[in-house]
Amino acid sequence: MEISLEDTTGSSLPNLAYKGAHQAFSDRWKETDATMCRHSMSFHLHHTMRSEFFASYLYLLEKTPVVKLFPVTCEFIKGEKQFYYRAQQFYEDVPASEKGMLGDFLEICNVDLEGSRRFLKRFVGPGKAGTHCALDCGSGIGRVSKGVLLPVFEKMELVDMMEHFLLHAHEEYLGDDADRIETYYCFNLQEFTPPKKKYDVIWMQWVACHLTDKDLMNFLMRCKKSLRPNGVIIMKDNMARQGCKLDPIDSSISRHLDIMKCIIAKAGLEVLAVERQEGFPEIMMPVWMIAMK
Ligand SMILES: C[S@@+](CC[C@H](N)C(=O)[O-])C[C@H]1O[C@@H](n2cnc3c(N)ncnc32)[C@H](O)[C@@H]1O
Repeated sequence: MEISLEDTTGSSLPNLAYKGAHQAFSDRWKETDATMCRHSMSFHLHHTMRSEFFASYLYLLEKTPVVKLFPVTCEFIKGEKQFYYRAQQFYEDVPASEKGMLGDFLEICNVDLEGSRRFLKRFVGPGKAGTHCALDCGSGIGRVSKGVLLPVFEKMELVDMMEHFLLHAHEEYLGDDADRIETYYCFNLQEFTPPKKKYDVIWMQWVACHLTDKDLMNFLMRCKKSLRPNGVIIMKDNMARQGCKLDPIDSSISRHLDIMKCIIAKAGLEVLAVERQEGFPEIMMPVWMIAMK
């Protein structure tokens, strides 16, 4: 079940009540349609009322992003959660390269890495997070590990759901630095529990968008337990200008920063700093970095 509306927006309508009401209405209508004379005036009246109700219902769904996303992210077909199945299908065809990681925006790579290095510096050093070990979540081929994390941390671990990305990281992309990768975990983040008290920094870039609200919240809770003293989690992701936006092609959701902050608070984490990545093209969705502990 997805996080309830109450959980993320402060409204008093819990998800179960919404589902229950929806079920009750659709059961009643199914029955009525089957038994009514389709040529009677009352059928037409009923039909009109139903259309109008649905119009306002859809309007409400549009206005309330978390409710809208519940049916989208939690649809099951033949036992597969379609939201994750589609992402898996999408990344199977993505080449193990920087272009594969960045899609149409390969030219932002250096600006992105530079912004990340500067943000990371604020949280690492004497009296702050140590430099012993970091975890790169949704690492892909290790673009962030190579450009941001390996220059700072003695050891690293990578986790990604796609084996061909991790293989490319190890065999080619990371070069000699691959010797300092302690473990490559080929896992879905929604099923992955990182080892306890192991990491000074956990980096999640362009992967929070691939988790449903509830899975993201639970994953962040598990990450919190795997931090060493003074450790931080850093998330960098697209944040919608309004509400939530689903990209059906790669099966990702971009959430407004406030919605993301609600999920972070629900996970029991404290936001330390929030900064927008500068220097990206205007047509890109805003990208924000959030540090939390
Ligand atoms: C857009 S790429 C970003 C890669 C890397 N973080 C970077 O910035 O270069 C998204 C990555 O997330 C991984 N991914 C998507 N959904 C995932 C999931 N549910 N669990 C683990 N990895 C996932 C994909 O395989 C892919 O490598």
